[in-house]
Amino acid sequence: MPSTAPWWRSAVIYQVYIRSFADGDGDGVGDIAGIRSRLPYLKSLGVDALWINPWYKSPMADHGYDVADFREIDPLFGSLAEAEQLIEEAHRHGIRVIPDIVPNHTSDQHAWFRAALAAGPGSPERERYVFRPGRGPGGGEPPNDWVSCFGGPAWTRLPDGQWYLHLFAPQQPDLNWEHPEVRAEFESILRFWFGRGVDGFRIDVAHGLVKDPELPDLPPREEPAGVLGPLSRRDEADAANRIRRHLDHPHWDRDEVHDIYRAWRKVADEFPGDRSFVAEAWADTPERLAAYVRRDGLHTAFNFDFLMASWDAKDLRSVIDDSLAMLGAVGAPATWVLSNHDVMRHPSRYGRKTVKRWVANEPYRPEGPPDLELGRRRARAAALLMLALPGGAYIYQGEELGLPEVEDLPEAVLQDPIWERSGHTDRGRDGCRVPLPWSGRSEPYGFSPAGAAAAPWLPQPANWGEFSVQAQTGDETSMLELYRAALRLRRELPALGDGTLTWLEAPDGVLAFRRAPGFACVVNLSAEAHPLPGHTSLLLSSGPVEGGVLAPDHAAWLAL
Ligand code: GLC
Repeated sequence: MPSTAPWWRSAVIYQVYIRSFADGDGDGVGDIAGIRSRLPYLKSLGVDALWINPWYKSPMADHGYDVADFREIDPLFGSLAEAEQLIEEAHRHGIRVIPDIVPNHTSDQHAWFRAALAAGPGSPERERYVFRPGRGPGGGEPPNDWVSCFGGPAWTRLPDGQWYLHLFAPQQPDLNWEHPEVRAEFESILRFWFGRGVDGFRIDVAHGLVKDPELPDLPPREEPAGVLGPLSRRDEADAANRIRRHLDHPHWDRDEVHDIYRAWRKVADEFPGDRSFVAEAWADTPERLAAYVRRDGLHTAFNFDFLMASWDAKDLRSVIDDSLAMLGAVGAPATWVLSNHDVMRHPSRYGRKTVKRWVANEPYRPEGPPDLELGRRRARAAALLMLALPGGAYIYQGEELGLPEVEDLPEAVLQDPIWERSGHTDRGRDGCRVPLPWSGRSEPYGFSPAGAAAAPWLPQPANWGEFSVQAQTGDETSMLELYRAALRLRRELPALGDGTLTWLEAPDGVLAFRRAPGFACVVNLSAEAHPLPGHTSLLLSSGPVEGGVLAPDHAAWLAL
């Protein structure tokens, strides 16, 4: 019987980083035409929806996260008419479309910010953003000690002496969400796109919109609990610190932010057909995350604890248990995510000795090269784990091809603002954004049409051809066919998607759970082979299973 639960409770959502997905017009940058031409691929992969990174008019200081006009498509990506065609064609393929909305800030080229600059200090135009006089002699010091997520201070001074706030790049001034016009404008933007058929939105920096009106300095940073204590004690102390730290952070995850989303929920509910939101909210605890997805708030939120967990059975199990408990308590489904356009691709993470969970808002930048064979083996197992867990899942483009992080991009081609803002100490996020390989043995690997005028906007590695869709299609041992098979089974098996799980008894280092009816998933994160529990058939495995035994770093789906 087909399920009556709304689609977003169990959806597999494919993230399209538009710049790097497919280039239709040959300028070396991905675009809407490229996405449209690849809809049959996405259909055959078996995903339910696309989340498309910002496609709005933008000077591209942060590749589209600096929006100059939320009702226009940037000409680099296409036109509004093409966006409408894409939405319609995707729907014909049974695929939903979720654009990104960026409410924390605009571009410095947005009409509002330009007006604010022109109108000068004390003007009503400046009240839509966060302008303040400086501190210290002559106001020469920033108004407080907040730092930009991309490095350096979160304030920039104007020639007229005032400072403005930007939690990201100086080209991304933060909006003032206390201002009624800001609230009204975004509700109007939501209606504009819902009216054009989008099925929901991914909300950028959803936890950052509301600031403490006093703009106080940051709270003193808690030191992590003694590194020598036993792991469980350390985790407890860390959790307590995280809870204390969040309680009154001046700009992250403030309680008042939920009022905004209650209003957004009402806007979504004005439209037919289960429109939904997913929050990019880096919350310190699962309880704090759950606050975003209460019944009158947003529908789902990315579960970054899963992405930040190391390849460790205990760590993963506690993330899974806490997420299901906290989200379940407010009636929301979990979402699971391994990679996105902001973090190192997971084969490159899992191919390294990660000993600790990394921290929200702190980039994971390990030393030394990864063991990519190991990383890929674990990535295959992780895919089967993720897709078997209750709730929805996100696939970041290229994850289904097993792409590693490109860690040796020449410095001269790096474009992420983090590279400049960090004074060339942090290479930033370009390594997970290299244009996809579709076919062939040389650049552009089918990313751009034959005879394209320009090379891909980031150079593709010499071995990119091995990873191409063409090279993997039909190869039963490939990552792509593993994802296709898993997604096919996920659609067929009533046990998968929304619901609950029951853990099965398993030795240390092995995760095993059952889902009704008649399904089990076993993941071996230990160094020893592990005999599979009794089953009627092996549905799928991340590698060969011989003699009923699961090798280290492998996963299997079983029919019981
Ligand atoms: C989010 C996006 C990231 C962007 C930032 C600023 O974290 O995922 O890519 O740079 O917001 O908008």
